[in-house]
Amino acid sequence: MFYDPDKNDHGLPHSPFKSCVVPRPIGWISTVSPEGVHNLAPYSQFQNLTFDPPYVMFAANQNTRGKRKDSVVNAEQTGEFVYNMATYDLRDAMNRSAAEVLSEVDEFELAGLTKAASIRVKPCRVAESPVQFECRYYQTIRLPGNGLMGTVDIVIGRVVLIHISDDVIGPDGRLDIIKIRPLARLGYYDYTTVDSIFEMVIPGENEALLKGLEGDSGAARGKIKND
Ligand SMILES: Cc1cc2nc3c(=O)[nH]c(=O)nc-3n(C[C@H](O)[C@H](O)[C@H](O)COP(=O)(O)O)c2cc1C
Repeated sequence: MFYDPDKNDHGLPHSPFKSCVVPRPIGWISTVSPEGVHNLAPYSQFQNLTFDPPYVMFAANQNTRGKRKDSVVNAEQTGEFVYNMATYDLRDAMNRSAAEVLSEVDEFELAGLTKAASIRVKPCRVAESPVQFECRYYQTIRLPGNGLMGTVDIVIGRVVLIHISDDVIGPDGRLDIIKIRPLARLGYYDYTTVDSIFEMVIPGENEALLKGLEGDSGAARGKIKND
């Protein structure tokens, strides 16, 4: 089958769109307003964009009242946000933090979470989360959309400090992803977690390509030569 997303003529009981790009990592974004109110919300339209230096993005549609979301307004006004990794153990708190509440509400308190002070930015980190990135706001790209919620703000930030809990670094020095169980979005109201891992390496001798895949910044800086 095929369908035109402008017409939504898929003929199915529920839109299949969000099931077609899966799984999507959840960027659990914390910000603080200029008045000092702490804000937290999950975004599955989230991704890392590059690694040297690292940049991440989250894409926030307008809220159900056709207004820009607090995460966007705060990130733009203060120039800072934090990415927290959402995990299976934190799923209920993550879900509570998605409620559309007044800007005056502290969403760490709403979700029952602990604030950990950041080092280089003002927004707090979710203490219970095993991985957090302190980010400086870089740019918003606004895409026009349909209806009240369709317009979307893509917020890009540069990662300036990375926190990883010692508990999730395995004896081999790698992040123990199976222990972390990162949470990810599927379509509908469905979620998944990472429960299995397999390794695959690009064939050939291109060391810079392989290091880039691994996320080694030496490759991007041209320090790894292929000859
Ligand atoms: C798992 C999950 C993923 C979500 N992903 C997005 C998203 O990518 N973009 C978006 O605009 N809203 C998303 N939402 C809804 C927002 O979290 C929700 O609108 C929240 O109230 C925004 O809060 P804020 O106004 O404090 O920024 C998601 C909700 C959940 C539960």
